[in-house]
Amino acid sequence: MKLMVIGCGGVATVAIYKCCENPLFTEILIASRTVSKCEALAERLRPMTKAVITTARVDADSLESLTALMNEFGPHTVLNVALPYQDLTIMDACLACGANYVDTANYEAEDTDDPEWRAVYEKRCREKGFTAYFDYSWQWAYDERFKASGLTALLGTGFDPGVTQVYSAYALKHYFDEIHYIDILDCNGGDHGYPFATNFNPEINLREVSANGSYWEDGHWVETKPMEIKREYNFAGVGMKDMYLLHHEEIESLAKNIPGIKRIRFFMTFGQSYLTHMKCLENVGMLGTTPVMFEGREIVPIKFLKALLPDPASLGPRTVGKTNIGCIFTGVKDGKERTIYIYNVCDHQECYRETGAQAVSYTTGVPAMIGTAMVASGTWAEKGVFNVEEFDPDPYMDMLNKYGLPWVVDENPVTVE
Ligand SMILES: NC(=O)c1ccc[n+]([C@@H]2O[C@H](COP(=O)([O-])OP(=O)(O)OC[C@H]3O[C@@H](n4cnc5c(N)ncnc54)[C@H](OP(=O)(O)O)[C@@H]3O)[C@@H](O)[C@H]2O)c1
Repeated sequence: MKLMVIGCGGVATVAIYKCCENPLFTEILIASRTVSKCEALAERLRPMTKAVITTARVDADSLESLTALMNEFGPHTVLNVALPYQDLTIMDACLACGANYVDTANYEAEDTDDPEWRAVYEKRCREKGFTAYFDYSWQWAYDERFKASGLTALLGTGFDPGVTQVYSAYALKHYFDEIHYIDILDCNGGDHGYPFATNFNPEINLREVSANGSYWEDGHWVETKPMEIKREYNFAGVGMKDMYLLHHEEIESLAKNIPGIKRIRFFMTFGQSYLTHMKCLENVGMLGTTPVMFEGREIVPIKFLKALLPDPASLGPRTVGKTNIGCIFTGVKDGKERTIYIYNVCDHQECYRETGAQAVSYTTGVPAMIGTAMVASGTWAEKGVFNVEEFDPDPYMDMLNKYGLPWVVDENPVTVE
């Protein structure tokens, strides 16, 4: 099976490493903006796999550049692990070239000052009641076109979004008649030793974390100020941590796909030092996405900040500790209320020793490979645009155990107030 992977950062490194362990993928093309990174990774992986690995330069913002490369290589499936800004262009290229599409993050506009985009965004804010710069409407709008072309697009197969929704489908299938409450808890107990760094792409990460929070309740969105809602939780493998309610993309698809759901919240852990640094950067304008003039040339503050911060791909050797990501579900089974917690604990140093990347890239890259394998093998074969919870979770859950992200079901967990 011919797979084309677009992007060659932290997440891609793990996803491609894991694709090389899966005999389904016989030919892998790694295509990204900086081809030297693709070639360095290919050289490292060639001795450990039977897959034939080639590399190429591609500009994933250019439909022309993408279709030229896809027509030459002829991929069965394309895994997009570049940035959310490129999702729509890559989906267009897949339709033009007859390839299935897989990604790990939903579309986000790079230029949020673009008046055409802004008009659609402001209408959506009014109608739906949340102000995040991303939502699924852009990609769900491709459903008919993927159906008509006999192709599958699988959206958001990282950990969150991704595994959290597979856990939801699994809980619904095996533990509940109806799920009423979902709390998604994302804890990173890792320490990289820097005063401030982000664990994945800084621009995407800081945009997400500095935005308003929101949750889904009784059929509508409730929006909060950034970091307004704080809880403490004692995470298995990590210990007690502060966590904050954020808006997160899988809330939108779970609200649509889990019948009878009453509330979905997402919490992420942050240390005080991270929050203080972020607030300071925000206060001085360093998180801005609008270009400013500096010494005669335009710069985008958050892009300049990205250039100053440690490259997330370089955090692997220095990060110690564990992550714990999972979902607490409350609902009914056979007329009785029950609560379960499904989660994974992942160790930064073990991930690094195996793949050369830390656990945040690992917990995203492994599910990116698994989702790609579901589509490429025809295990998940329906045509159109889908989120992961719309398919049978069992084969995916089996692969999580097999490929390094084993999960635990706690049938008597502590809940979040
Ligand atoms: N679902 C989840 O759980 C989850 C968690 C974390 C991250 N993610 C998503 O995973 C994706 C990758 O994250 P990451 O941390 O690996 O980011 P990253 O390290 O910044 O890597 C992004 C890669 O995409 C390449 N790229 C960017 N723009 C491009 C363009 N126009 N054309 C071609 N290649 C381009 C970059 O090339 P250069 O090397 O030239 O910069 C880089 O190799 C993001 O979409 C992120 O939102 C999902």
